[in-house]
Amino acid sequence: MKYSLMLAGAASAVTALSVQAHPPSPPHPPVSPHPPSSPEPLSFRTTLNVNTAKKYQTMIGGGCSGAFGAACSTNSLSTADQQTVVKTLFDENHGALSILRNLIGSSPGTTILPECPATPAGPFNYSFPTSNNDSCQLTLAQGALKNNPDLFLYADAWSAPGCFKTTGEESGGGYICGVRGTNCTEDWREAYANYLIEYVKLYQERGIKVSMLGAYNEPDFNPFTYSAMLSDGYQAYDFLSVFYPMVKKAFPDLAVSCCDSTGARQQRDLLYELGRLGGLDLFDINTYHNYQSDIKRPFDDLLHNQPTIETEWSDGGSTWTHTWDISGNNFEGLQWAIYMHNAFRNNVAGWSHWWCAWNGGDGALVNVNGASYQIAARLWAFSGYFRFARPGAVRIDAETNVEDLYVTAWMNKNGTIAIPVVNAAHYPYTLDVDLSGSKVSHAVSYLTDNEHNVTMDNEFTFKDGRFTAQIEPRAMKTFFLDF
Ligand SMILES: *[C@@H]1O[C@H](CO)[C@@H](O)[C@H](O)[C@H]1NC(C)=O
Ligand SMILES: *[C@@H]1O[C@H](CO)[C@@H](O)[C@H](O)[C@H]1NC(C)=O
Ligand SMILES: *[C@@H]1O[C@H](CO)[C@@H](O)[C@H](O)[C@H]1NC(C)=O
Ligand SMILES: *[C@@H]1O[C@H](CO)[C@@H](O)[C@H](O)[C@H]1NC(C)=O
Ligand SMILES: *[C@@H]1O[C@H](CO)[C@@H](O)[C@H](O)[C@H]1NC(C)=O
Repeated sequence: MKYSLMLAGAASAVTALSVQAHPPSPPHPPVSPHPPSSPEPLSFRTTLNVNTAKKYQTMIGGGCSGAFGAACSTNSLSTADQQTVVKTLFDENHGALSILRNLIGSSPGTTILPECPATPAGPFNYSFPTSNNDSCQLTLAQGALKNNPDLFLYADAWSAPGCFKTTGEESGGGYICGVRGTNCTEDWREAYANYLIEYVKLYQERGIKVSMLGAYNEPDFNPFTYSAMLSDGYQAYDFLSVFYPMVKKAFPDLAVSCCDSTGARQQRDLLYELGRLGGLDLFDINTYHNYQSDIKRPFDDLLHNQPTIETEWSDGGSTWTHTWDISGNNFEGLQWAIYMHNAFRNNVAGWSHWWCAWNGGDGALVNVNGASYQIAARLWAFSGYFRFARPGAVRIDAETNVEDLYVTAWMNKNGTIAIPVVNAAHYPYTLDVDLSGSKVSHAVSYLTDNEHNVTMDNEFTFKDGRFTAQIEPRAMKTFFLDF
């Protein structure tokens, strides 16, 4: 089949060349006497082999953030629509997100430490940022938790309080006093550690469990204008060696992240430095952003078996791309599905968008415009993975021998299997799925393309681990297999 179709392709290329070779001709008559026969539409066939015995990383999940007031952006919607938006993002049968990343605010009005003591001896008068309930982040966390009881809340600081830093300012870079290269009169590292732990306590007092705590956001990058604090890997060692044991003492189950660099390469540099000082046991989850470089190979050689999460990405610009596959730009749904695929194949265990919702630009999964909102097709790419490969699922081996099908497979805790397939080709594929040796015998497929949003479209009952399915061009199709 592949052979004859390639011939059809070659034949049409020859036609095109011979047309080009003609000198310019006068305008065509309205009806050509010999209409060219159109070539057979292309379609290919391949086998998808799934090996349940070969295992990789364990899924943590997908997420987004309500930082910098973005969580308040849905306040202009009706109460019913506000609830629908949170449900669409976090419900297992919709967007299926499970990670929410909170900003531990350091600017006036958002911080839990409005007054800074003169020295690290204190006193520290912490208080919950009541203004809009932590800039609506508490409200968003409550809504997310209602739709997903296993919410993984990531509390992350962009900066220490200004008074703990070399610059005295929370925005525009600077370092936490006490790490190498700083020359402050006091060492504020322990104070910063206590401050971060205090944020977790304030959420716990409000019935919300924090799962991961971070001291850094993009420590390789000085934006000059907003909350930020710098650190290289050696300085991260100096802080994490104080912070990590304090977190474990306060909350043994609370994971510590490191270090949300702007890109995978930047994070590799930081981890390498941290590793030179023997600091690779001072964090539990490796976190990076996808802005300045994406992942080219697994982080595993630089880690002590920690999982990795991509914790933030968007185009950061002011355009709004809500489509699946119209323009081909990076922020369409299909492209995101492939970026996520690439991360998963490099053993990344979770993937977060920047904002959940915002009123303008590609920063968010949901664009709020006054009383109305629109959902980016990027969310359907998330859903194609996270709705079926739930937190705790283990990636298993899945291979085809073609380049334009992007395939992963995941085994959930109860033995069900999710196989998200992205077809980047402009023609359909027939897939012979082979899971011989597994117990599954029933599959349902869910289609996402320009017309479908994770829509159930077919069902298969099969024996001996083999079934055959079609996948549409420029589409994502997730197969969910059970018994
Ligand atoms: C502590 O902070 C709270 C809230 O900001 C304030 O009401 C209270 O007076 C402060 N207490 C002290 C001892 O400064
Ligand atoms: C803060 O949240 C509580 C529920 O936890 C709610 O009763 C209150 O109205 C909220 N306040 C604001 C300003 O949103
Ligand atoms: C550190 O600060 C002290 C006191 O201000 C000053 O005397 C010294 O020169 C500084 N050292 C460096 C390396 O900046
Ligand atoms: C799919 O989602 C988009 C938003 O991403 C929406 O505009 C469209 O109406 C939805 N289509 C269907 C068939 O639900
Ligand atoms: C197995 O787990 C998946 C993912 O949580 C769930 O959707 C599915 O209903 C479960 N199936 C069975 C047979 O328990």
